[in-house]
Amino acid sequence: MHVVTSVAELSKANAYRELNRQFSAILAGERDGLANSANLAALLFNILPRINWAGFYFLRGRELVLGPFQGKVACVRIAIGRGVCGTAAQRREPVVVPDVDEFPGHIACDSASRSEIVVPLLFEQRLFGVLDIDSPELARFDSEDTTGLTELVNQLLRNSDFAWLGN
Ligand code: SME
Repeated sequence: MHVVTSVAELSKANAYRELNRQFSAILAGERDGLANSANLAALLFNILPRINWAGFYFLRGRELVLGPFQGKVACVRIAIGRGVCGTAAQRREPVVVPDVDEFPGHIACDSASRSEIVVPLLFEQRLFGVLDIDSPELARFDSEDTTGLTELVNQLLRNSDFAWLGN
C-alpha cells in the first residue's frame, strides 16, 4: 500500500515535485492506463488543497468521454471545442480559467466550481484526452499548476498503455 504524504507545508513548486515523486512510486512497473489514471485522480483529489473535482476525460472517437475521477457526478460526453475541456483538447494546450462564469460555454457539473484548469494528455503529438481539475475558489490555478500537472500527465503517459482507447 502506498502512503500518500501531505504537501500542505510546501511551496507550490515543491508540492508538485513531491507529488511527482509520489506518483512515480505509485506507477512502479504498472502500465495499465486506466488504473494509473484512477490513481492519479485519487492522488490529486486527496493532496491538492482547495479543489472539488479532479479527473480525466478520454478521447473516444470524436468526443471526450468521462474517465476516472474523484468528486461529484459529472457530465459524460463533451464535444471537442465545447466547454473548458473541449477547448483544451481542441487547442492541444492547457487552459486556466480564473472565473468559470467568465468562460463562454463553460459546462457546470458542480455548482461549487469557481475556477478550473485543464491539461491535455498529449504523447508523441497524439491526443488521448484531458486532465480536468476544479476549485471552489476563484483564480485557484496559475502557471505553476500548469507546469506541475503537465509533468504529472507526462509521467502518466510515458509509463502507461492507452491502446485500449482504440483511437
Ligand atoms: N467544467 C468542464 C466540464 C467538466 S466538469 O467540470 C467535471 C468544462 O467546461 O469543460
